[in-house]
Amino acid sequence: MSVAHPDLTVEIAGLTLQNPVMSASGTFGYGTEYAEYLDLSKLGAIVTKAVTLEAREGNPPPRVRETPAGMLNAIGLQNPGAEAFIREKLPELREFGVPVIVNISGRSVDEFTRLAEMLSLDGVDALEVNISCPNVEHEGMTFGVDCEMTGRLTEAVCAATDLPVIVKLSPNVTDITVIARAAEQAGADALSLINTLLGMSIDVERRRPHLGNMTGGLSGPAIRPVAVRMVHQVAQAVDLPLIGMGGVMCANDALELILAGATAVAVGTANFVEPASMEEVIRGLADYCRRHQVRRIAELVGAVA
Ligand SMILES: Cc1cc2nc3c(=O)[nH]c(=O)nc-3n(C[C@H](O)[C@H](O)[C@H](O)COP(=O)(O)O)c2cc1C
Repeated sequence: MSVAHPDLTVEIAGLTLQNPVMSASGTFGYGTEYAEYLDLSKLGAIVTKAVTLEAREGNPPPRVRETPAGMLNAIGLQNPGAEAFIREKLPELREFGVPVIVNISGRSVDEFTRLAEMLSLDGVDALEVNISCPNVEHEGMTFGVDCEMTGRLTEAVCAATDLPVIVKLSPNVTDITVIARAAEQAGADALSLINTLLGMSIDVERRRPHLGNMTGGLSGPAIRPVAVRMVHQVAQAVDLPLIGMGGVMCANDALELILAGATAVAVGTANFVEPASMEEVIRGLADYCRRHQVRRIAELVGAVA
């Protein structure tokens, strides 16, 4: 590859991606919904919205609320369940020829392992384990805020599948590096970060929360500096490849995460503003490489001075 045609390929958890840009879970449906807005075959990977064992209806409305430089959501993992996903969504997803990463969510270690077994199929390239889920066996405490629960869950999912396992970290913790190390020690192949920051907003006229669920997850540009900081911290703490996300709206935002230590980046909230934003990000990364005489984008990973 020459400077005129920079090499955008990156390796994550044994997968070779043609570029580092993928969808963030829950913001891109199952990919196919976006096929008329952008060329899905150009993406680095497609990450699906959460798949759970049984179908879920999700939370009561309203489920989303715009906030300064971002949004709050409390969708509640609405999805048709694993069987319907495998039957109805997966066959279409395979058609685009890019790696498919399935995001899985569960209420217990057992639910996660059953999902991992069911989804260990041709056409699924990796699993992303959403540890920002309440564990019913531990009084609803979120898996991802506790290093012991994170370790046990990661170990169990890794034992249940031969697919690469990507553990998606929650930012709602005191020290994210402790959780990242627990996932690494338990066998994770890569980490993705960050999930949404827990937030709340209030309609002062009605004196009620805006969201039906009261609280929700904050995403978008408002959280980007938190994501950049956490990616940088985790990159120093573990030897695993990282997928960075949080407020990526353009190539420069993606580059911040890459320079902080992310091998790949996911685009979430931006898809609601501009459905083709991932194509823009990919083009912008190539332009940056040309302007800065960078032959391989992988050279930029963690290259912040
Ligand atoms: C509407 C919505 C739904 C989401 N659903 C999921 C999900 O199902 N599983 C998951 O791991 N993360 C989910 N997320 C979190 C995103 O994947 C991402 O980690 C977060 O939004 C930060 O990226 P962003 O600022 O680019 O949106 C969701 C985010 C939004 C906004």
